[in-house]
Amino acid sequence: MAKNLMKFWKLGVKPFNTHYFNINDKSNLMVREGNFQYDILGISKKFGTPAEIVFPFILQERVDDLINLFNSYIKIYRYPGKFYYHYPMKVNQNKEFIMPLVTNGANLETGSANELKLVQKMWETGSLSKKMKVICNGPKTNEYLKLIADLKAKDLDIVPIIEDLNEYSYLRNYRGNVGIRLDVDVKVSSHWDKEIDRFGLARKELRRLGKIKNLKILHYHIGSQIEMLKDIVVPLRRAMEVYLELKKLNPSLDTIDMGGGMPIPYDRKFRYSVDSVIENIVKYLKNFSEKHGIEPPNICCEWGRYIVAPAQITIFKVLAEKEIIERQKRKWYVVDGSFMNDLLDTWALHQKWHVVPVNHMDAKQRTPSWLAGMTCDSDDKYTGQGSYVLLPRLSSLAEGEELYLAFLDSGAYQDALASHHCLLSSPIKLLAQNGEVKVIRKRESLDDVAKLFGW
Ligand SMILES: Cc1ncc(COP(=O)(O)O)c(C=O)c1O
Repeated sequence: MAKNLMKFWKLGVKPFNTHYFNINDKSNLMVREGNFQYDILGISKKFGTPAEIVFPFILQERVDDLINLFNSYIKIYRYPGKFYYHYPMKVNQNKEFIMPLVTNGANLETGSANELKLVQKMWETGSLSKKMKVICNGPKTNEYLKLIADLKAKDLDIVPIIEDLNEYSYLRNYRGNVGIRLDVDVKVSSHWDKEIDRFGLARKELRRLGKIKNLKILHYHIGSQIEMLKDIVVPLRRAMEVYLELKKLNPSLDTIDMGGGMPIPYDRKFRYSVDSVIENIVKYLKNFSEKHGIEPPNICCEWGRYIVAPAQITIFKVLAEKEIIERQKRKWYVVDGSFMNDLLDTWALHQKWHVVPVNHMDAKQRTPSWLAGMTCDSDDKYTGQGSYVLLPRLSSLAEGEELYLAFLDSGAYQDALASHHCLLSSPIKLLAQNGEVKVIRKRESLDDVAKLFGW
């Protein structure tokens, strides 16, 4: 029975990152940490909803797997370079995300002076080991540049990436190692690969620069959520042609940084495995370096979404059901939170989510539903991967029974972009670790929210 339910709700499938989930004999959703399991219904009732639950063990497992995979292909292909994983902080800056990643060997990538200030705090309190490496992307304000120089002076292994000619003019006299960002001339299928990209320097601009003092890293970032394997491989090939040119003038260059892009199968369709991408990368770099007689570069990646999205789920309770006059077969399910505020890629990017009921997973009768959020905005809705979300029928539940829903993979990008439309409070944030669940961010009170708006 549970096996069929697991299949129906697409749980327990490693390539979909749902192998952390289970269904208990009461047909409720469970999350497994080793041999312990968290009862998501119990947690939702105890702490209330909307709620976000963070699972640090998932972060640790994912970063560990990634580093091990790269290192095992490096060994298999006898690749002389090293692999460095840099977690891009912009993807989720919450401490409960960054700490488990860092303790499992992640280096960091910052996108702003404020993100770097968090690194500064950790560095100055001695919380980071001397092995920590930091790459600084994003527009370099004076404050950002000063912070980079200060941290360099305090012996942090920090490399600013030159993103344009203005930054080049500031950083050409920088005393430490620098990187440079290439605007790779390839179009790929990703929402973020724009026709005209404002980041990075074109190949011909790079040629005009000639020798670049202390150049260590060639960086590019083609986009996020890259749907096809070839769209990871082709930009790498293009970037390596430029690497070769730069290497001739700049022998100090020794690292290729591929940026982010590894996707999350939000729609539960299999694209390509992380294993195949990593093998492709290592094999290609080995052959390329041998063919051109250069030292194989160290490999660096900044995959963010892939590492952190599965480590958080968002829970809502269904408050009411409403007829949809124009679509007789569907129903609105009104939930107690907001997509626009707290899963706002639903609205911004028409993001698809894997939604499963937290309880009544075995309901025989199901309703094709559209989910409506709590703001008064007609855009505050989620209408599913196809044209609806199939959920247990409310009228089939026993008197007094409630229905809770889990949105999986909500750990990437949603928090820093979250908002307060209609002055709704942000969800309570819970941490589930070592068999215990604790509140790490209380649900905002009306006063907390009012304060944000000067009241
Ligand atoms: C420079 C850079 N690196 C890494 C990332 C992370 O991308 P992803 O989360 O798709 O891996 C981004 C995202 O925009 C980025 O701009």
